[in-house]
Amino acid sequence: MITHDQILPTLYHMQRAGSIGEITVCASRPRTVQSLARAESLLRAFPGQTFRALPDSGDPDVSQPDLYRDAIRRMTPRQIVVTAVPDQLHFDVIMTALRHDQHVCAVKPLVLRHSDAARIEKEARSRNLVVGIEYHKRFDDRSLMARRRYRAGLFGDFRLGTAALMEKWYYRHSNFQNWCTTENSDAFTYIGCHYVDLVHFITGLLPTRVSVYGIVDKYPNGNKGYLWTDARVIWNNGACLNVQNSLSFPDAAPGTNTQGLTMYCQGPDNGTLLSHSDQYRGLKYSYTHRADEPGSTVYAEPSPDYFQYVDLGGKGLTPVGYGYRSVAFIVDKCIAVEAADPAARPAMLRQIDQDGIMATPANSSYNELVIEAGRASILSGGREVAIEYGENPGIRPC
Ligand SMILES: NC(=O)c1ccc[n+]([C@@H]2O[C@H](COP(=O)([O-])OP(=O)(O)OC[C@H]3O[C@@H](n4cnc5c(N)ncnc54)[C@H](O)[C@@H]3O)[C@@H](O)[C@H]2O)c1
Repeated sequence: MITHDQILPTLYHMQRAGSIGEITVCASRPRTVQSLARAESLLRAFPGQTFRALPDSGDPDVSQPDLYRDAIRRMTPRQIVVTAVPDQLHFDVIMTALRHDQHVCAVKPLVLRHSDAARIEKEARSRNLVVGIEYHKRFDDRSLMARRRYRAGLFGDFRLGTAALMEKWYYRHSNFQNWCTTENSDAFTYIGCHYVDLVHFITGLLPTRVSVYGIVDKYPNGNKGYLWTDARVIWNNGACLNVQNSLSFPDAAPGTNTQGLTMYCQGPDNGTLLSHSDQYRGLKYSYTHRADEPGSTVYAEPSPDYFQYVDLGGKGLTPVGYGYRSVAFIVDKCIAVEAADPAARPAMLRQIDQDGIMATPANSSYNELVIEAGRASILSGGREVAIEYGENPGIRPC
């Protein structure tokens, strides 16, 4: 999904602009890459552009789960590997890429355990490689506006907040049912991490305690998943964020999901407010008929801000939005570090960590601690789990 919707179109656009060269896409089954190569929206937007598809032969439905190792091994060193596989496979793909001297752009969440994030950080640092974690909400201009204003003191101190991100019901019918199951992930791990990351991105605060209540539900194929979650995250200034996530938003409802963040904060002697409706962005469209895609509706409220194709003349279409900007930002950082004198690279990498705009293993490992704490909590019925920082960061039961 994310490869089709955001990553490949961004890379194609960068390829068209001459910033990057050849693209290889490696899935586990031939059918996956074959259908990606035939995808209507990509053919329309990027006529004449193709990628090298792996697996390139064999039964379309037979999985070759280790093929990516071979694909990475064959790459010229110091290119870019983009990881967009199920959450629980990120660690192996990223470590394989780093050990073969490749920069990495990883979809969120980086990994599911803090110790794994620390190993990634160490490996990348020892080779002066970039690891950028693609939290694209950071590149929504409203997040960058909020960050500047919060850090300038305009909102005072965060106290209470609510965030929600509900994906549409039809997601249950997608490939999710094969991997986003109780033993691997849950709705909070999958989508809640965006708003936890965003609250840190805006405020600089760190999460210190997490509890997640999840409701187990059945996918169409009979697998079980925590498809409804309610999380409570306490921050190091005592603030409390409630995050609700699910795969439940009605297919008949407008928009591809519903999502938003409200933060109630405290000024010197007044209350302040930051409220983002991240799904409804002011557009109301009612079409002649429903498009033939899952989740499409006759009446729609599309987001112009995440990812759209626009016609700017010439052949094809141009991708725009923070989904594009986010991937392009990470790829550009990889290119800039690689173009620099090797002696200058460690300082460049430290600067990226310090700037805190692009999430890296060094500056965003609170996300892994929250995920680890969240998983421990949900698996124990919602028990609160504490996060400890310092010399040996980790989680412990409260
Ligand atoms: N908002 C976001 O930032 C966002 C949105 C969607 C997904 N994601 C993340 O992107 C990742 C993928 O999610 P998705 O929604 O695209 O899921 P998906 O199920 O549509 O895609 C996963 C792909 O991984 C491939 N794969 C699985 N095992 C493999 C292996 N061993 N080797 C090679 N390929 C393999 C599958 O072929 C499949 O095409 C997840 O980590 C998810 O959390 C992030």
